[in-house]
Amino acid sequence: MNDIIQNNKLLLLGRLTAGLVHEIRNPLSAIKLNLDYMKMAEDDLPVDVKEIVNESLEAFEQVNFLIEDVLDFTRKPTEKIHKVSVPGITDKCLKIISTTARNKGIIIQSQIDENLPQILANKNKLMQVFMNIINNAIEASHERGNIIIRSAVKNLNGNDSLIWEVEDFGVGMKNEDKEKIMSGFFTTKSKGHGIGLGVCDKLIKELGAEMYFESEYGKGTTFSVKFKIAE
Ligand SMILES: Nc1ncnc2c1ncn2[C@@H]1O[C@H](COP(=O)(O)OP(=O)(O)OP(=O)(O)O)[C@@H](O)[C@H]1O
Ligand SMILES: [Mg+2]
Repeated sequence: MNDIIQNNKLLLLGRLTAGLVHEIRNPLSAIKLNLDYMKMAEDDLPVDVKEIVNESLEAFEQVNFLIEDVLDFTRKPTEKIHKVSVPGITDKCLKIISTTARNKGIIIQSQIDENLPQILANKNKLMQVFMNIINNAIEASHERGNIIIRSAVKNLNGNDSLIWEVEDFGVGMKNEDKEKIMSGFFTTKSKGHGIGLGVCDKLIKELGAEMYFESEYGKGTTFSVKFKIAE
């Protein structure tokens, strides 16, 4: 029963986040308006106040980007497929998820080639895939662990593909669990739902991509997604 109560709270929180984020936007735009006003008169301001105004504007931008990204993520996806940038989407995910990682002392290293070719995908769904995989890596990691995100073009079987992968050095998987993790509702976590990877599997199939993993119990896990490159 305790599990059900906790899961219900988490599901509620998920639904409420979008509303909450909207509510934060209004007071935030009031702050921004006042800062812009002060900025206009910056020639009359003492140097240290001028600096404070500029720092506050920068801080505003950071919060604003985060809010836009969270809203983007919580929105229902359209079916639209666009050319999307994998480094860009990974960056958005990392911004949203960085607090969770930081709270566990986990460092996420991003080794992504900034000049990767684009892929055809739905931005929102791609974010959901990346977020689930990165979140699983965080949950599997020990305190103060490391996670590496890599992405590069590789030539596999004569075709160029874009590979995106997340490596963690956490708990790993038992051999007998490996075939169960994609089947849905399988979880080894006290507060898990066993839904994340099933969702990823469905979304990745929609994208015409492939997902696979390697894992060693007690050592760690690497999840990879292989995408076709947009013409
Ligand atoms: N990086 C990983 N390292 C070790 N085990 C993993 C990793 N990713 C997934 N797993 C295993 O696969 C199971 C299923 O993962 P999945 O994301 O579907 O569900 P979950 O994380 O347990 O719950 P949730 O619905 O909250 O995502 C996990 O419970 C865990 O046993
Ligand atoms: Mg999960």
